[in-house]
Amino acid sequence: MGDIIITPDPNIYLPSAGGYEPEDWRSETTSIASHLYKGIMENGRRYQTLRESDYFSPSDERQFETYEMGHLACLLMNADGANPLFLSPVPSPKHVLDVGTGQGSWAIDVADMFPSAVVRGVDLFPPPVSWIPPNCIFEVDDVLQPWTWSQKFDLIYLRHGIGAFTPDEWDSLYKRCYDNLEHGGWFEQFEMNICCECDDGSIPADNVLFTWGPRFFAAGDKLGKSLDITKTMRSSIEKAGFTDIHEKETKWPIGAWPRDKSLKEAGLVNVQHWLAGMEGYSMYLLTKYGDPVPWTKEEVLVYVAEMRKALKNPRFHAYQRARRIWAKKPLQGQILQADSPNT
Ligand SMILES: C[S@@+](CC[C@H](N)C(=O)[O-])C[C@H]1O[C@@H](n2cnc3c(N)ncnc32)[C@H](O)[C@@H]1O
Repeated sequence: MGDIIITPDPNIYLPSAGGYEPEDWRSETTSIASHLYKGIMENGRRYQTLRESDYFSPSDERQFETYEMGHLACLLMNADGANPLFLSPVPSPKHVLDVGTGQGSWAIDVADMFPSAVVRGVDLFPPPVSWIPPNCIFEVDDVLQPWTWSQKFDLIYLRHGIGAFTPDEWDSLYKRCYDNLEHGGWFEQFEMNICCECDDGSIPADNVLFTWGPRFFAAGDKLGKSLDITKTMRSSIEKAGFTDIHEKETKWPIGAWPRDKSLKEAGLVNVQHWLAGMEGYSMYLLTKYGDPVPWTKEEVLVYVAEMRKALKNPRFHAYQRARRIWAKKPLQGQILQADSPNT
């Protein structure tokens, strides 16, 4: 696993496979790294080039800032618990994996919180990190390719994977997570529903905000990678063999409209997350799968500007739903019992 590995020293990239002499790998991995960092430019945004089948969200500074705001909003929305990073009952993780780590903030925070754990983050594009805790490792690879890590994990985490995989790919990814967990280890996934909702009638029914979710669900369906996975993730996780499945649904304010101070703060960060991310999330999908025909770059920019204006309206009380699921790989004896014909 890992075309390149980014170590705590940001100037050193290591090849994932052994058998290289230092002189060989220095030049070879530096050229792989620079090729990967370059990506491919389209409509003013940079996209990853590692995976042949495209991933819709850009891998560029603007999108990494968006991910950072999403991470901050997540921390704020979970600030009341003992651990704002995950809910799986793994009090002292030893080997943690963050699937699709993005800008790597979750992996870095978990590495800081658990200094005796080794935390790996894997992504198609190298995370833009300038410092990594000594117990954190980033690897650039496609998680749909065979996993070759020698150890099993006690926690595998995945956040904001919407639109990355087809239904069959999701099934095989969950199975792979299951197979690569220790017995008794936990898998946790957190996803947002992209539809704007409103409970108090403060947003007119024909407002542009309500077009965003359905429009992107339709584009994701055309692409063959559903953006509506908060509804389907639980059954796919169950199908992979996980047990002891827990879930938590929350309403995330979009904007600083809630009275409650902590929700107000989270809503303020979440609306910034939307404002920063909308162009990146929509450019690829609408210029390729927009309705009724693919949109031009200019049409996308106009739509995003209309959305921005509506999101900034302080009278609108918009929110979106989020779902977190955490589930256990059963202990070995529990699997044998469940499989036994006498039980
Ligand atoms: C929306 S971002 C979320 C990043 C991060 N998990 C977070 O919550 O901020 C999804 C990430 O998944 C990565 N990704 C998509 N398909 C992948 C694949 N097949 N293998 C590895 N990473 C993938 C993307 O490159 C992107 O960085």
